[in-house]
This record gives sequence, C-alpha cells and structure tokens, in this order.
Amino acid sequence: MNGDVESLDVEPWVSLLDALRDRLGLTGPKKGCDQGACGACTVLADGLRINSCLALAVQYDGSEITTIEGVSHPLREAFVRHDGFQCGYCTPGQICSAIGMLAEHESGMPSAVTESTHAGPTHAGPTRPEHTRERLTEAEVRERMSGNLCRCGAYNGIVDAIMDVAG
Ligand code: FES
Repeated sequence: MNGDVESLDVEPWVSLLDALRDRLGLTGPKKGCDQGACGACTVLADGLRINSCLALAVQYDGSEITTIEGVSHPLREAFVRHDGFQCGYCTPGQICSAIGMLAEHESGMPSAVTESTHAGPTHAGPTRPEHTRERLTEAEVRERMSGNLCRCGAYNGIVDAIMDVAG
C-alpha cells in the first residue's frame, strides 16, 4: 500500500474502496457512485487503474495498491498549473486514472479513438498498429479518460494537464 506493507483482515464482501477509506484511513479515493460509473474511486493496482468500488479487497491480497496519497508524479503539479479541478472531489481519481492511462498508452494499448482514426489496412497485417505509441492526441486523452467524470466540468484543464505531462 503506497510502498508500505499493510496487514489487514477484511470480510470477503468488503470493497477495496471501503477497506482503503474505512479501515486504513486513506480517504483520497472518493465514493461517488459506488457502482463503477464515475471513476472517483480510481486507484492503481500493480500499476493498472481500477475502480476500487467494484473490487473486493480480498481480490487484491498481495497487490501493490497506490492511492493518491502515495502518488508522486508530475501530474499532481500539472493539475494545479492548468486548473484541472474545481471542487476537487474527482481529482484523486482523475490523477490515478491518468497515470494508469499514460502507462497503457506507453505499453501500446490502443484506444477507441486510435482504432477509428487510424483504421488499419484491410489486408492481413500486424494486429497492433505501430502508431499506437505515437504522441497522444487530445481526442485520445478524452476518450481514454472518459471513465472519470467531473461534475464541475473542468475537463479542459484536466486534458491540458495530461497533455502537458504526456509531452
Ligand atoms: Fe467507483 Fe464511482 S465510486 S466508479
């Protein structure tokens, strides 16, 4: 957990989000919808972004969980620089999600935008187009971050912050 080993006994029905917030006092991940629709609860599990409200804590026994409290990443400052928030409620999830998203892009995982914008040749070819590691476009960032809602509508600042860090 954020670089420390935590030993925690939880009932098998306790969500990862509730375990983090109520048992470990890590209140960075927020409970927005509690049903996988808003992304406010996003954390990183072994570097991958997940909605912690949909995950059972016991599923992640032995995993490295990173919440916003354990994030030291240029995105934190970039969100401030670009006004990537208003009330701030969604921000921990936005930043954790953006970190995971950048890693996904770096690994070559295509987005829906990449697929539709760069439709590959119809003949048999590589299943993963080479363009997937090109610079992220704003449209790709918006699509890849579409699971994180901001009720204040600070999307322009959020995208600017991510584009800034993505280079
Ligand atoms: Fe988990 Fe909304 S609280 S997605």
